[in-house]
Amino acid sequence: MKNIINIIALTSAGFLAACLAGCSTMNTPKGTITQSDFGQSPDGKPVVLFTLRNENGAEADIMNYGGIVQKLIMPDRNGKMADVVLGFDNLQGYLTKSPYFGALIGRYGNRISNGQFALNGQTYTLPQNDTVNTLHGGIKGFDKHVWTARPIMTSEGPSLILTYVSPDGEEGFPGNLEVTAVYTLTEHNALKLEFTARTDKPTVVNLTHHSYFNLGGQGSGDILGEIVYINSSQTTTVRKGLIPTGDLADVTGTPFDFRKPTAIGARINDPDPVLRFGPGYDHNWVIDKPLGKFGLMARVTDPKSGRVLEVWSDQPGLQFYAGNFLDGTITGKSGAVYKIHDAFCMEPQHYPDSPNQPGFPSTELDPGQTYHSTIVYKFGTE
Ligand code: GLA
Repeated sequence: MKNIINIIALTSAGFLAACLAGCSTMNTPKGTITQSDFGQSPDGKPVVLFTLRNENGAEADIMNYGGIVQKLIMPDRNGKMADVVLGFDNLQGYLTKSPYFGALIGRYGNRISNGQFALNGQTYTLPQNDTVNTLHGGIKGFDKHVWTARPIMTSEGPSLILTYVSPDGEEGFPGNLEVTAVYTLTEHNALKLEFTARTDKPTVVNLTHHSYFNLGGQGSGDILGEIVYINSSQTTTVRKGLIPTGDLADVTGTPFDFRKPTAIGARINDPDPVLRFGPGYDHNWVIDKPLGKFGLMARVTDPKSGRVLEVWSDQPGLQFYAGNFLDGTITGKSGAVYKIHDAFCMEPQHYPDSPNQPGFPSTELDPGQTYHSTIVYKFGTE
């Protein structure tokens, strides 16, 4: 049941909101937002799918459930459109078997060792949902909540504003945390994500996005031939369970050096005793830029389709995950069976386990402060 929102009303609301924030010249917002029912969450809330389209025909479909990007349609070098993210055609798949496909991850993206951390002398205990460690915010992370959604046309393009208040103690984390995520599909074929959060008690925050990309189109096979550049000369070394040791290691001469663009598959199973724990890529790269500065993190090109993805962010680290745990047991959109390395994730974030690593940039958020992070997935062709 598709239902076109009153775009004229949205457009003027968007103008007004943007102008109140201070505008001098305002471009005409272009694109559309439609919405459709997508089922019901386990706690009985309506799940809605918002379809953001820009004037180029690019499309981002985002759910109020988990802020999940269910579809992302981008052109190839001949203008042919394809859905470049893995996922499911219906909500049921997301509720029962999704390895975080397209999800908004929080409160703490990636791992916290042994499911605990200390802050101001107090120890907090979290659910251990990845062997003994906590992964992606615990058992019911931000990816499994229904967010309040408000579609809006902005000067940059169609946007969806999602908000969620995570109560004090949820999944063991201290503080009531008010979170806002704004997704915008720009006229330049970028999906821009802006996160803010505020707390009423000292806490830790590390939000990220977990789309599984395949630039050839979801269901088109593996991504081993896609070529990756990462703006990084160091990774955080890991021990068992992909938990950082606290050390940084130079990537020079290792399969982790992507400063020269290299096919994902070229060295993916090469041994590397220092940086690697298990086959495949699932590591945090330390981005070569000043802390907090917005910049290019990675660039992926698909020689076959010509699609290019640039990842920009102000975050200090990038988890590049090569879909190592996809094993053919998940059937996704249009009946596609997802096998090992059929997609990659590029998750800009703080380093894993930062709350237990005094040497890493801090993820602490205190009352009165505002957490900000921006991630831009910018598509193009060559
Ligand atoms: C992240 C982690 C991986 C894996 C996936 C989800 O990328 O780093 O180890 O847990 O999420 O399967």
